[in-house]
Amino acid sequence: MAEQKKLKLGVLTSGGDAPGMNAAIRSVVRTAHHYGIRSYGIKTGYEGLFAGDIEEIDHADVSGIIHRGGTILRTARCAQMMTEEGQKKAAEIIKILRLDAIVIIGGDGSFRGALALSKLGVNVMAIPATIDLDMDCTDYTIGFDTAVNTAADAIIRIRDTSSSHERCSVVEVMGRNSGRLAIMCGLVGGAEEVLIPENPVDTSSVIEQVLHNRSQGKHHNLIVVAEGVGNSNKLAKEIERVLGIEARATVLGHFQRGGTPTARDRMHATIMGYTAVKGIVDDEKSKAVVYRHGKHVLLDIEEATTAKKEYSPRLYDMTKILAI
Ligand code: F6P
Repeated sequence: MAEQKKLKLGVLTSGGDAPGMNAAIRSVVRTAHHYGIRSYGIKTGYEGLFAGDIEEIDHADVSGIIHRGGTILRTARCAQMMTEEGQKKAAEIIKILRLDAIVIIGGDGSFRGALALSKLGVNVMAIPATIDLDMDCTDYTIGFDTAVNTAADAIIRIRDTSSSHERCSVVEVMGRNSGRLAIMCGLVGGAEEVLIPENPVDTSSVIEQVLHNRSQGKHHNLIVVAEGVGNSNKLAKEIERVLGIEARATVLGHFQRGGTPTARDRMHATIMGYTAVKGIVDDEKSKAVVYRHGKHVLLDIEEATTAKKEYSPRLYDMTKILAI
Protein backbone atom coordinates (compact mmCIF):
# COMPACT_ATOMS: atom_id res chain seq x y z
CA MET A 1 0.00 0.00 0.00
CA ALA A 2 1.39 3.46 -0.92
CA GLU A 3 2.43 5.57 2.07
CA GLN A 4 0.15 8.57 2.66
CA LYS A 5 1.83 11.87 1.73
CA LYS A 6 2.86 13.90 4.78
CA LEU A 7 1.51 17.45 4.94
CA LYS A 8 4.12 20.23 5.03
CA LEU A 9 3.73 23.57 6.78
CA GLY A 10 5.91 26.65 6.79
CA VAL A 11 6.13 28.83 9.87
CA LEU A 12 7.42 32.39 10.04
CA THR A 13 7.45 35.36 12.38
CA SER A 14 7.08 38.79 10.84
CA GLY A 15 7.06 42.50 11.77
CA GLY A 16 8.18 43.69 15.21
CA ASP A 17 9.07 40.79 17.46
CA ALA A 18 6.98 40.12 20.55
CA PRO A 19 7.76 38.09 23.67
CA GLY A 20 5.98 34.77 23.31
CA MET A 21 6.70 34.29 19.61
CA ASN A 22 9.08 31.45 20.47
CA ALA A 23 6.42 29.74 22.57
CA ALA A 24 4.08 29.95 19.57
CA ILE A 25 6.72 28.48 17.20
CA ARG A 26 7.33 25.64 19.67
CA SER A 27 3.64 24.90 19.91
CA VAL A 28 3.19 24.94 16.11
CA VAL A 29 6.13 22.60 15.50
CA ARG A 30 5.26 20.17 18.29
CA THR A 31 1.57 20.01 17.41
CA ALA A 32 2.53 19.45 13.77
CA HIS A 33 4.88 16.65 14.86
CA HIS A 34 2.05 15.06 16.83
CA TYR A 35 -0.18 15.02 13.74
CA GLY A 36 2.56 13.79 11.42
CA ILE A 37 3.00 17.14 9.64
CA ARG A 38 6.50 18.28 8.62
CA SER A 39 7.44 21.84 9.68
CA TYR A 40 9.70 24.24 7.82
CA GLY A 41 11.07 27.35 9.53
CA ILE A 42 11.14 30.37 7.23
CA LYS A 43 13.82 32.75 8.50
CA THR A 44 13.51 36.53 8.88
CA GLY A 45 9.82 36.72 8.04
CA TYR A 46 8.67 37.08 4.46
CA GLU A 47 12.25 38.08 3.56
CA GLY A 48 13.29 34.45 4.11
CA LEU A 49 10.72 33.27 1.58
CA PHE A 50 12.24 35.46 -1.13
CA ALA A 51 15.78 34.49 -0.13
CA GLY A 52 14.97 30.77 0.14
CA ASP A 53 16.16 30.82 3.75
CA ILE A 54 14.04 27.88 4.84
CA GLU A 55 14.91 24.82 6.89
CA GLU A 56 13.03 21.81 8.19
CA ILE A 57 12.55 21.97 11.96
CA ASP A 58 11.39 19.24 14.26
CA HIS A 59 10.26 18.89 17.85
CA ALA A 60 13.82 18.76 19.23
CA ASP A 61 14.77 22.02 17.48
CA VAL A 62 12.22 23.94 19.52
CA SER A 63 13.36 22.56 22.83
CA GLY A 64 14.32 25.14 25.49
CA ILE A 65 12.73 28.14 23.79
CA ILE A 66 9.33 28.48 25.49
CA HIS A 67 10.71 31.05 27.93
CA ARG A 68 12.95 32.94 25.54
CA GLY A 69 12.16 36.44 24.26
CA GLY A 70 12.58 37.41 20.61
CA THR A 71 12.12 34.82 17.89
CA ILE A 72 14.48 32.00 16.93
CA LEU A 73 13.25 32.39 13.33
CA ARG A 74 14.22 36.07 13.37
CA THR A 75 11.89 38.67 11.87
CA ALA A 76 11.73 41.68 9.56
CA ARG A 77 9.40 44.22 8.06
CA CYS A 78 9.40 43.22 4.42
CA ALA A 79 8.85 46.03 1.89
CA GLN A 80 8.61 43.57 -1.03
CA MET A 81 5.64 41.87 0.59
CA MET A 82 3.74 45.16 0.50
CA THR A 83 3.68 45.14 -3.29
CA GLU A 84 1.34 43.09 -5.47
CA GLU A 85 4.30 41.79 -7.41
CA GLY A 86 6.05 40.67 -4.23
CA GLN A 87 2.91 38.94 -2.95
CA LYS A 88 2.55 37.00 -6.23
CA LYS A 89 6.20 36.01 -6.06
CA ALA A 90 5.79 34.83 -2.45
CA ALA A 91 2.74 32.72 -3.38
CA GLU A 92 4.69 31.19 -6.29
CA ILE A 93 7.58 30.28 -4.00
CA ILE A 94 5.21 28.63 -1.52
CA LYS A 95 3.74 26.57 -4.35
CA ILE A 96 7.20 25.57 -5.61
CA LEU A 97 8.13 24.52 -2.08
CA ARG A 98 4.92 22.47 -1.94
CA LEU A 99 3.98 23.85 1.43
CA ASP A 100 0.38 22.90 2.23
CA ALA A 101 -0.04 25.76 4.69
CA ILE A 102 1.85 28.70 6.18
CA VAL A 103 1.57 29.74 9.82
CA ILE A 104 2.25 33.47 10.06
CA ILE A 105 2.93 34.92 13.50
CA GLY A 106 2.84 38.72 13.67
CA GLY A 107 0.85 41.94 13.85
CA ASP A 108 -1.48 43.76 11.46
CA GLY A 109 1.13 44.16 8.69
CA SER A 110 1.85 40.44 8.80
CA PHE A 111 -1.88 39.73 8.66
CA ARG A 112 -2.20 41.89 5.54
CA GLY A 113 0.53 39.79 3.93
CA ALA A 114 -1.32 36.64 5.03
CA LEU A 115 -4.57 37.90 3.51
CA ALA A 116 -2.84 38.68 0.20
CA LEU A 117 -1.36 35.16 0.12
CA SER A 118 -4.71 33.57 0.89
CA LYS A 119 -6.26 35.46 -2.05
CA LEU A 120 -3.55 33.93 -4.22
CA GLY A 121 -4.55 30.42 -3.15
CA VAL A 122 -2.18 29.85 -0.22
CA ASN A 123 -3.65 28.25 2.89
CA VAL A 124 -2.61 30.58 5.72
CA MET A 125 -3.07 30.38 9.48
CA ALA A 126 -2.31 33.69 11.16
CA ILE A 127 -1.48 34.15 14.85
CA PRO A 128 -1.69 37.68 16.35
CA ALA A 129 1.55 38.75 18.03
CA THR A 130 2.34 42.37 18.82
CA ILE A 131 3.02 44.28 22.01
CA ASP A 132 0.65 47.00 20.76
CA LEU A 133 -2.65 45.06 21.19
CA ASP A 134 -4.00 47.10 18.28
CA MET A 135 -5.83 44.41 16.27
CA ASP A 136 -9.60 44.54 16.40
CA CYS A 137 -10.09 40.87 15.55
CA THR A 138 -8.79 39.66 18.89
CA ASP A 139 -9.00 40.52 22.58
CA TYR A 140 -5.37 39.51 23.00
CA THR A 141 -2.14 39.67 21.04
CA ILE A 142 0.97 37.74 22.10
CA GLY A 143 3.54 40.01 23.75
CA PHE A 144 1.24 42.61 25.29
CA ASP A 145 1.37 41.28 28.83
CA THR A 146 5.16 41.03 28.91
CA ALA A 147 5.52 44.55 27.50
CA VAL A 148 3.11 45.93 30.11
CA ASN A 149 4.98 44.14 32.91
CA THR A 150 8.34 45.39 31.67
CA ALA A 151 7.14 48.98 31.25
CA ALA A 152 5.27 48.97 34.56
CA ASP A 153 8.40 47.75 36.31
CA ALA A 154 10.39 50.60 34.74
CA ILE A 155 7.69 53.09 35.67
CA ILE A 156 7.63 52.18 39.34
CA ARG A 157 11.43 52.41 39.47
CA ILE A 158 11.29 55.84 37.87
CA ARG A 159 8.57 56.78 40.34
CA ASP A 160 10.98 56.14 43.28
CA THR A 161 13.56 58.59 42.03
CA SER A 162 10.89 61.00 40.83
CA SER A 163 9.43 61.06 44.32
CA SER A 164 12.80 61.49 46.05
CA HIS A 165 13.65 64.48 43.86
CA GLU A 166 10.08 65.81 43.73
CA ARG A 167 10.31 65.77 39.99
CA CYS A 168 7.92 65.30 37.17
CA SER A 169 8.71 62.17 35.14
CA VAL A 170 7.56 61.71 31.59
CA VAL A 171 7.80 58.08 30.46
CA GLU A 172 7.24 57.26 26.80
CA VAL A 173 6.06 53.76 25.94
CA MET A 174 5.65 52.07 22.54
CA GLY A 175 2.39 51.32 20.76
CA ARG A 176 2.76 52.96 17.36
CA ASN A 177 -0.54 54.78 16.70
CA SER A 178 -2.37 53.02 19.47
CA GLY A 179 -2.77 54.18 23.06
CA ARG A 180 -3.70 50.74 24.43
CA LEU A 181 -0.26 49.86 25.75
CA ALA A 182 0.14 53.32 27.32
CA ILE A 183 -3.24 53.15 29.05
CA MET A 184 -2.48 49.78 30.62
CA CYS A 185 1.04 50.87 31.61
CA GLY A 186 -0.41 54.03 33.16
CA LEU A 187 -3.08 52.10 35.05
CA VAL A 188 -0.77 49.51 36.55
CA GLY A 189 2.09 51.96 37.05
CA GLY A 190 -0.14 54.40 38.95
CA ALA A 191 0.49 57.29 36.55
CA GLU A 192 -0.95 60.73 37.22
CA GLU A 193 -1.56 61.30 33.52
CA VAL A 194 -1.69 59.17 30.37
CA LEU A 195 -1.38 60.82 26.97
CA ILE A 196 -2.65 58.85 23.99
CA PRO A 197 -2.87 59.70 20.26
CA GLU A 198 -6.59 58.89 20.12
CA ASN A 199 -7.38 61.68 22.57
CA PRO A 200 -4.98 64.59 22.10
CA VAL A 201 -4.57 66.95 25.07
CA ASP A 202 -2.98 70.44 25.06
CA THR A 203 0.37 70.84 26.77
CA SER A 204 -1.18 73.67 28.80
CA SER A 205 -3.75 71.37 30.37
CA VAL A 206 -1.05 68.81 31.21
CA ILE A 207 0.90 71.58 32.89
CA GLU A 208 -2.21 72.66 34.81
CA GLN A 209 -2.70 69.10 35.99
CA VAL A 210 0.90 68.86 37.19
CA LEU A 211 0.42 72.07 39.14
CA HIS A 212 -2.85 70.81 40.61
CA ASN A 213 -1.19 67.53 41.65
CA ARG A 214 1.58 69.47 43.36
CA SER A 215 -0.98 71.55 45.24
CA GLN A 216 -2.56 68.28 46.43
CA GLY A 217 0.73 67.36 48.07
CA LYS A 218 1.99 64.88 45.50
CA HIS A 219 5.76 64.58 45.56
CA HIS A 220 5.99 63.11 42.11
CA ASN A 221 4.15 63.46 38.84
CA LEU A 222 4.25 60.51 36.54
CA ILE A 223 3.12 61.11 32.99
CA VAL A 224 2.92 58.13 30.63
CA VAL A 225 3.11 59.21 27.00
CA ALA A 226 2.23 56.90 24.12
CA GLU A 227 4.70 56.73 21.24
CA GLY A 228 1.97 58.03 18.93
CA VAL A 229 1.94 61.29 20.92
CA GLY A 230 5.73 61.45 21.22
CA ASN A 231 7.68 64.61 22.07
CA SER A 232 8.34 63.50 25.64
CA ASN A 233 11.54 65.52 25.92
CA LYS A 234 9.79 68.61 24.66
CA LEU A 235 6.98 68.13 27.18
CA ALA A 236 9.43 67.68 30.08
CA LYS A 237 11.30 70.85 29.05
CA GLU A 238 8.06 72.79 28.78
CA ILE A 239 6.89 71.68 32.23
CA GLU A 240 10.23 72.74 33.69
CA ARG A 241 10.17 76.08 31.87
CA VAL A 242 6.60 77.02 32.80
CA LEU A 243 6.38 75.62 36.35
CA GLY A 244 10.00 75.60 37.45
CA ILE A 245 9.47 71.97 38.53
CA GLU A 246 12.33 69.70 37.51
CA ALA A 247 11.20 67.30 34.82
CA ARG A 248 12.89 64.35 33.11
CA ALA A 249 11.86 62.27 30.14
CA THR A 250 12.60 58.56 29.64
CA VAL A 251 11.81 56.84 26.36
CA LEU A 252 11.53 53.10 27.07
CA GLY A 253 11.72 52.14 23.40
CA HIS A 254 12.77 48.59 22.48
CA PHE A 255 13.45 47.77 26.11
CA GLN A 256 9.77 46.78 26.24
CA ARG A 257 9.98 44.31 23.39
CA GLY A 258 12.55 41.93 24.86
CA GLY A 259 12.76 39.62 27.83
CA THR A 260 11.22 36.44 29.11
CA PRO A 261 7.56 36.19 28.13
CA THR A 262 5.16 36.14 31.06
CA ALA A 263 3.14 33.00 31.79
CA ARG A 264 0.12 34.75 30.24
CA ASP A 265 1.98 35.30 26.98
CA ARG A 266 3.28 31.74 26.96
CA MET A 267 -0.22 30.45 27.63
CA HIS A 268 -1.81 32.37 24.73
CA ALA A 269 1.09 31.58 22.40
CA THR A 270 0.91 27.89 23.21
CA ILE A 271 -2.85 27.62 22.75
CA MET A 272 -2.79 29.74 19.59
CA GLY A 273 0.00 27.67 18.04
CA TYR A 274 -1.87 24.47 18.79
CA THR A 275 -5.17 25.89 17.47
CA ALA A 276 -3.55 26.98 14.20
CA VAL A 277 -2.15 23.53 13.46
CA LYS A 278 -5.32 21.77 14.61
CA GLY A 279 -7.13 23.99 12.08
CA ILE A 280 -4.85 22.70 9.32
CA VAL A 281 -5.49 19.12 10.46
CA ASP A 282 -9.24 19.78 10.40
CA ASP A 283 -8.94 21.09 6.84
CA GLU A 284 -9.73 24.70 7.75
CA LYS A 285 -8.61 27.19 5.09
CA SER A 286 -7.11 30.67 5.54
CA LYS A 287 -7.96 31.53 9.09
CA ALA A 288 -6.63 33.59 11.98
CA VAL A 289 -6.51 32.29 15.53
CA VAL A 290 -8.13 34.92 17.72
CA TYR A 291 -9.00 35.21 21.39
CA ARG A 292 -12.59 36.31 21.86
CA HIS A 293 -14.82 36.21 24.92
CA GLY A 294 -12.36 33.97 26.73
CA LYS A 295 -11.93 31.45 23.91
CA HIS A 296 -9.32 30.82 21.22
CA VAL A 297 -11.21 30.42 17.96
CA LEU A 298 -10.60 30.50 14.20
CA LEU A 299 -11.81 33.47 12.22
CA ASP A 300 -11.75 34.05 8.49
CA ILE A 301 -8.49 35.83 7.61
CA GLU A 302 -10.34 38.55 5.68
CA GLU A 303 -12.53 39.37 8.66
CA ALA A 304 -9.49 39.30 10.94
CA THR A 305 -7.54 41.77 8.84
CA THR A 306 -10.02 44.58 8.37
CA ALA A 307 -10.30 46.79 11.44
CA LYS A 308 -7.83 48.56 13.72
CA LYS A 309 -8.60 48.20 17.41
CA GLU A 310 -10.03 51.27 19.10
CA TYR A 311 -8.71 52.31 22.48
CA SER A 312 -10.91 51.60 25.46
CA PRO A 313 -12.49 54.87 26.74
CA ARG A 314 -13.51 53.02 29.91
CA LEU A 315 -9.89 52.16 30.79
CA TYR A 316 -8.74 55.62 29.73
CA ASP A 317 -11.30 57.26 32.04
CA MET A 318 -10.13 54.97 34.81
CA THR A 319 -6.60 56.39 34.53
CA LYS A 320 -8.11 59.82 35.27
CA ILE A 321 -10.35 58.66 38.11
CA LEU A 322 -7.53 56.84 39.86
CA ALA A 323 -5.00 59.63 39.43
CA ILE A 324 -6.40 61.90 42.16
O1 F6P B 1 4.52 47.08 16.55
C1 F6P B 1 5.42 46.91 17.59
C2 F6P B 1 6.30 48.13 17.73
O2 F6P B 1 7.18 47.90 18.80
C3 F6P B 1 5.57 49.45 17.90
O3 F6P B 1 5.13 49.66 19.21
C4 F6P B 1 6.62 50.42 17.44
O4 F6P B 1 6.01 51.59 16.93
C5 F6P B 1 7.32 49.69 16.34
O5 F6P B 1 7.07 48.31 16.56
C6 F6P B 1 8.79 49.92 16.27
O6 F6P B 1 9.27 49.25 15.16
P1 F6P B 1 10.81 49.00 14.87
O7 F6P B 1 11.31 47.97 15.84
O8 F6P B 1 10.83 48.51 13.47
O9 F6P B 1 11.50 50.31 15.07
